[in-house]
Amino acid sequence: MILTDDDRRLRDGDEGPAVAAAMDLLVRYGEALDAERLCDVRNVAGTTTQPSPVKARLVAEGGWDRAFSIINLDADDTLPIPPMAVPTCQLQHGFGRDAVGVVPYAPEMVALQDDAEAFVGARGVSVLATCTPYQVGNLPVRGEHCAWMESSAVVYANSVLGARTNCEGGASTGAASLTGRIPCWGNHRDDERRGTHHVRVETPVASFLDWGLLGYAVGDAVQEGRPVVTGDLALPDLTDIKHFGAAAASSGGVELYHVPGVTPEAPTTETAFGGRPPRETVVFGPAERRAAHERLNDQGTSEDVDFVLLGCPHASLDQIRDAARALEGRRLADGTELWIMAPRALAAVAERSGYTAVIEAAGGRVLTDSCPAMSRTAPTGTRVFATDSAKQAHYLPAILGIEAWFGTTAECVDAAVTGRWRGELR
Ligand code: F3S
Repeated sequence: MILTDDDRRLRDGDEGPAVAAAMDLLVRYGEALDAERLCDVRNVAGTTTQPSPVKARLVAEGGWDRAFSIINLDADDTLPIPPMAVPTCQLQHGFGRDAVGVVPYAPEMVALQDDAEAFVGARGVSVLATCTPYQVGNLPVRGEHCAWMESSAVVYANSVLGARTNCEGGASTGAASLTGRIPCWGNHRDDERRGTHHVRVETPVASFLDWGLLGYAVGDAVQEGRPVVTGDLALPDLTDIKHFGAAAASSGGVELYHVPGVTPEAPTTETAFGGRPPRETVVFGPAERRAAHERLNDQGTSEDVDFVLLGCPHASLDQIRDAARALEGRRLADGTELWIMAPRALAAVAERSGYTAVIEAAGGRVLTDSCPAMSRTAPTGTRVFATDSAKQAHYLPAILGIEAWFGTTAECVDAAVTGRWRGELR
């Protein structure tokens, strides 16, 4: 791999041992991928603070310097961690102090996370604590090289914003945050951003549910491909397209897609394919829509719902407002809980706008920082949950061993107030 003089200087320890370890990691990573060089990044979204028993042990042995060295730099020794070299944000993690007593999440994990936040905050990490950093101020510009984790955020950054990032991990983002470098391969390169599959939509896709079903079917069909989606599509809003990308990154490994006329690198279908023919054409019609819905509901048998989860990826303000409207004057069924996961910054706006008061009056909660999948936490005794998120319906049954129903937001609110699942595809 070609290293610049500055890359070598960092690797040789001019900026201290942690930065040298970070460069060593990036060079090994880049060589394994056949990357020709590193590219400069000025926007890192990673995770250091997510509590875990392993981190608790490492912190007990040598503080957060040790945990960061071992987990985020793949180092053997405990290295003093300097301030981050480039703007870095913390993605979602565990539940915070204000959730103690509200969700069954271990207080010692909350304390560990508090400690971690103080450590990274002192080194210049912005603790956004959300899987949707793009909703709360982290908006890279088109063409900007980034190093982001979190599949739903990566697909949004690449596709909707036109920024450039692979789906990184805790070690590569840790190294990137201390060096401002990441191997220049995959989604960083022009020739790796053109469409590979043509998805022809032959049934109307006009709602939040439809965009989730389309994403789930497309991810399953193209796996790691780069779909170009055309056809019977209404103009999506942020919430729709957030659902689409997260679903495609769950059933498959989609990190980049194009919707001609909507996403920035695809003014036309021809541009999206870069003059090359698609590898394959995939049709999304009524049968594929129904099949995606059936797959997302194949983990549900009992119609008695004890938990409803909205906000995956973390809810937009529109989603919180719509949930408040749907819950106004109603009351959750006895024994049923409703959680809406949101970025902390947007939860503050929701509270100020009066949405949270309406949701809480009905018995629901607006919660922040985490989610059931990330924290492995649901209301005590949950056996059956309902969600309007294809991603959460895909993952949570396996993570928590519970049944799942997937449907519209209205169907989920209905389940919360009746305790029964009555959803069906229309
Ligand atoms: Fe976010 Fe959790 Fe969904 S981290 S994308 S709410 S699985």
